[in-house]
Amino acid sequence: MYQGKTVDAVLPAAGSGTRFGAGYNKAFVTLGDAPLFVHALRTLCAHPAIDRVFLVMQEKELASLPDLCLYGCDDTVIEFTEGGATRRESVQNAVLRSDADIVLIQDAARPFITFSYIDGCLAALETCRGATVAAPATDTVKIADEKGLVTQTTDRARTWMTQTPQCFDRKTLLRAYDAYDGSYEATDDCMLLEHLGEAIAIVPGSRSNIKVTTPLDLVLAQALLTGKSF
Ligand code: C5P
Repeated sequence: MYQGKTVDAVLPAAGSGTRFGAGYNKAFVTLGDAPLFVHALRTLCAHPAIDRVFLVMQEKELASLPDLCLYGCDDTVIEFTEGGATRRESVQNAVLRSDADIVLIQDAARPFITFSYIDGCLAALETCRGATVAAPATDTVKIADEKGLVTQTTDRARTWMTQTPQCFDRKTLLRAYDAYDGSYEATDDCMLLEHLGEAIAIVPGSRSNIKVTTPLDLVLAQALLTGKSF
């Protein structure tokens, strides 16, 4: 509960992990003392504003779930939800089951979520219906056409690399699902609200809030976890 509003978290962990290349869902690769997805899960379970956590997995993977209590997760707040074919569908399956005022969405592949990111997103919802953590771009970002020719360069001073957590007024997100026509792939949930013309607030994050997508990212995550400097 946050300022009288109920808050559910959604943790999509139902990807295939093709780009990671382990041959199984990367959510189960070991990082430090726990499977990758457990790092974000235990932070969400411990945050005082979060009432429930929907852990989204493919049905066949539920059988290989470890005892989450052994990793310090309060399993009384966890509910399991079946994953979909895309990230958007996986998240939507959980959002449709939630009846909370606010939903907070966190990629299971991002282990370094903090209470301060969660607090920042919830506070931003006091003035907007959507908010995302994002890091300022350090590279110059270009858009290319299908032939690989550059068509545009974004203004780096206003370019942000979007991360999670993201949080939303749940009824507005439901309205965005109704309006979604499938003409684009929503690789994050903010995009759905942007198509409604809704303002999305940016909560400044850090480049260390990485997403584990490839084996190199796991090496980086291990170094960040142990505080190793490069
Ligand atoms: O593919 P991407 O790296 O953007 O995925 C981000 C998160 O979405 C991962 O935690 C992944 O497990 C999850 N996902 C999902 N269902 C899918 C595809 C991705 O829950 N069908």
